[in-house]
Amino acid sequence: MSVTVRVPAKVNVQLAVGAARPDGFHDLANVFLAVGLHDEVTVTPCADGPRVTCTGPDADQVPLDRTNLAARAAVALAERYGRDADVHIHIAKDIPVAGGMAGGSADGAGALLACDALWGTGASREELLGICAELGSDVPFSLVGGAALGTGRGERLTPLEVGGTFHWVFAMATRGLSTPAVFREFDRLGEGTRIPEPVASPDLLAALAKGDPDALAATVTNDLQPAALSLFPELADTLTAGRAAGALAALVSGSGPTTAFLARDAESAAGIAEALRVSGSCRTARTAAGPVPGAVVI
Ligand code: C5P
Repeated sequence: MSVTVRVPAKVNVQLAVGAARPDGFHDLANVFLAVGLHDEVTVTPCADGPRVTCTGPDADQVPLDRTNLAARAAVALAERYGRDADVHIHIAKDIPVAGGMAGGSADGAGALLACDALWGTGASREELLGICAELGSDVPFSLVGGAALGTGRGERLTPLEVGGTFHWVFAMATRGLSTPAVFREFDRLGEGTRIPEPVASPDLLAALAKGDPDALAATVTNDLQPAALSLFPELADTLTAGRAAGALAALVSGSGPTTAFLARDAESAAGIAEALRVSGSCRTARTAAGPVPGAVVI
């Protein structure tokens, strides 16, 4: 008996970052959109669990020990219900690793939902969301999917209306970036300046609600982008190549280094992806549309 959960990647269409808090985290206004790149997480009973295996193009970069968010999710749920985390967790990975697309968070949310179904805990949605928030700032959104505004450190979610499908191209970089390192660089670049409170842009929320790609392109922002570019300057070439290929907007996804390009429609996205692949400025490029649902048992 095993349970498989399919769970999407995300792009941040707005990532407004406040000053570092006393606990080291940053308050955010984080507008998440779930997009159609997925990991699949399968859990199977296993006496010496939790055990993690991973397949996929980036599998060799995924930690297989108890630091993996999927293993931590299984242990957190098992502890809550007074049982052993006696599962083998297999991750079929398609979301880029250390890419700024919440791949690790997806696996955490996926393993949590899969173990919950396997063990029949009967946990409420609120309880699962609470465990997700303890695991990481982006994990609750991986469970919920669709589109949402994340406040606090990004874990407090308000669902958002989206009036259409947005077509994206994602350019995968030749190496990863560490999220804490990008936030530290954000702090360093902002030293001595007054960093405003993060707030969601009303124009951006209206563009999402209308499903209007031109209006969304005019309003997307990522406050972590200067920090990601400072640590990975070559990303500027990828952004330039995507814009030259007709992207309506080009930005770093979350803490990067994956870059995201908004296209007018599916056909335009396919053309931008091909131009990025031949530009030599990225490892590969993929198209994906959003919003898509969050973690689901399949
Ligand atoms: O919450 P999560 O474990 O995914 O965060 C990873 C790291 O990213 C944190 O340790 C912190 O350095 C940084 N972070 C932050 N502010 C946030 C979210 C994450 O500084 N709101």
